[in-house]
Amino acid sequence: MKQSLRVMVLVVAVGATGGLLASGGDESRGRLPAVTHAQWQAECSACHLAYHPGLLPERSWHRIMAGLDQHFGENASLDAATAADIDRFLAANAADRSDHRRSRRIAGSIAPGAAPLRISDTPWFVREHREIAAATWRRPKIGSPANCAACHQGADQGDFSERRIRIPK
Ligand code: HEC
Ligand code: HEC
Repeated sequence: MKQSLRVMVLVVAVGATGGLLASGGDESRGRLPAVTHAQWQAECSACHLAYHPGLLPERSWHRIMAGLDQHFGENASLDAATAADIDRFLAANAADRSDHRRSRRIAGSIAPGAAPLRISDTPWFVREHREIAAATWRRPKIGSPANCAACHQGADQGDFSERRIRIPK
């Protein structure tokens, strides 16, 4: 009896540590879960990187997909079927549908009634980047906060870990 109890405690302890290590590893690498969707990849990376769906809540993605004809000064329209398909993919993997710590923080930083069109307008983003000077954003190799990949070398794989940040001069 005593013996089996000790074994059980050991198993539970190892299980818990294993879980902590596994999620700790994911979080410290800063990588969002890998997602693939052929049409999203093709259509939403034509002008900028295909922003990971876990960077905005579902209501923001619906707004973005409903306004592609006037998308930040560009016409990014798609045929209705393709747009609906991409919209479903973005919604299913949105920040407020994810249990990833980073996505939860992003979603939690946005007021319930708000649906920002920009990741770079979310309170979470502003806080994470508060040390970057206005003049740095405007450097020719950066241009705007939307250009994640200018500084985050793994941005197209959803990897925003600190060790892969290089701010271009
Ligand atoms: C025709 C070009 C074009 C296409 C295609 C396009 N976008 Fe954009 N997108 C832009 C421009 C321009 C901006 C503003 C960039 C800036 O502020 O530097 C932008 C910005 C964004 C932003 C805000 C980035 C931020 O946080 O500031 C999101 C989100 C976004 N696009 C999503 C999408 C999605 C989803 C698709 C595919 C359905 C898409 N875009 C396709 C041109 C495009
Ligand atoms: C001018 C360069 C630059 C651009 C552009 C930029 N970032 Fe960052 N980002 C940084 C720096 C610097 C940090 C802060 C690292 C620190 O102080 O901990 C950071 C922090 C982050 C973090 C937190 C990293 C961590 O592990 O603490 C995330 C996530 C992130 N950025 C995502 C984005 C996304 C998404 C975009 C585009 C919409 C973007 N960034 C655009 C430079 C940039």
